[in-house]
Amino acid sequence: MHRNTRIILGITGGIAAYKSPDLVRRLIERGAEVRVVMSRAAMEFITPLTLQAVSGHPVHQHLLDSDAESGMGHIELARWAEIILIAPATAHFMAKIVHGEADDLLSALVVASEATLAIAPAMNRQMWQNPATRHNLKTLVDRGVSIIGPGEGDQACGEVGVGRMTEPDEIAQQLLGDGIPQLFSGKKILVTAGPTWEAIDPVRGISNRSSGKMGFAIARAARDFGATVTMVRGPVNTTPPSGVECIGVQSARQMRDAVMSRVSGTDIFIGVAAVADYRPALQEDQKIKAKEPEIVLKLIKNPDILAEVAAREDRPFTVGFAAETRDLLANAKKKLWDKKIDVIVANDVSGEDGAIDNDTNAASLIHQTGVVQLERADKYRLAISILEKISVLMNPEPSTA
Ligand code: PMT
Repeated sequence: MHRNTRIILGITGGIAAYKSPDLVRRLIERGAEVRVVMSRAAMEFITPLTLQAVSGHPVHQHLLDSDAESGMGHIELARWAEIILIAPATAHFMAKIVHGEADDLLSALVVASEATLAIAPAMNRQMWQNPATRHNLKTLVDRGVSIIGPGEGDQACGEVGVGRMTEPDEIAQQLLGDGIPQLFSGKKILVTAGPTWEAIDPVRGISNRSSGKMGFAIARAARDFGATVTMVRGPVNTTPPSGVECIGVQSARQMRDAVMSRVSGTDIFIGVAAVADYRPALQEDQKIKAKEPEIVLKLIKNPDILAEVAAREDRPFTVGFAAETRDLLANAKKKLWDKKIDVIVANDVSGEDGAIDNDTNAASLIHQTGVVQLERADKYRLAISILEKISVLMNPEPSTA
């Protein structure tokens, strides 16, 4: 997809419409020109003024609008667009497109335009599963419409399931793909993410705190840089990025086995997972009865996945993360030397701004000969900075001396 791609973003009336300003930004970041068209229902969720501010252009709302018709009317708009992206696309709007209805500006544009049509559905999980929606979906797929998502997870209605609109950055990525340089084209990157769960019995266990957000962001950024990405993740609820092979595990030993069976041929290994250092020496098959006033839990050391990868003869470029609550740089540097890895990304996990579960993070990237400070940013942006630095370290400029 070329820069300056002309996109009409059509917003229909779902709660996910609140993500539309972010989506506009993500499309513009990738070099697209964006015009926004809103359905009447969309305006119940977000104002046209907000979308005008982020897109830098008036928002189109009405099919018969004398002002618009003297400027860019609906036929001009239909001809202008290279892509029409409907996000969020409600079940109702999907049905309208299937039937070729043209009773408002957005549906008329879809009928009148030859542009590529992409939709990012968003709806309650039952509506997504409904036979009528399934039928409409199939019809749209058969007509060559690109379907982005939906993802799985918590829904605005309080239910959990498939129907969440794909995150704006992911929609933009799927639509415009090569917005960022393909630094890792042809490279294989293996990432670990999330916590591990070390069972005591079938209902109890010990774990580390980790939402998986940082590891998922690294996997997504690596994919966007053109790498073939495999992610081994511990128990988290986050939806994996599309295009990333994702292997779910529970315990550190399972994570170790999943990594070791895939690491051969890998160019870069990035251990973001908060692997539990210890596990209970005994795992009971049956739930332990809570009748004793105290019990003693014996813990034994888990395998160190990162150190084991770094010790291989065919070792990939090996990157760890250090979660610290004090003496950040000194402790992280010690891990860099002890585990004999190439890079460690040190982050502070203490306090309100701590790295765990926050959407943003700041870090110090420590390599063999220096330290780079990475300012606080959302985890995807931070992941981009980390991978850019790794690319430079792996491909140093030839010396001119
Ligand atoms: O998931 P989020 O909520 O977004 O939070 C992100 C994070 C804080 C978990 C992440 O940024 C982070 O710091 N991950 C590393 C957590 C950790 O376990 O740090 P550590 O200092 O204990 O371990 C150092 C390195 O050794 C890590 O790369 C870890 O994956 C690895 N390790 C540790 C123990 C072990 N048995 N095997 C390992 O491979």
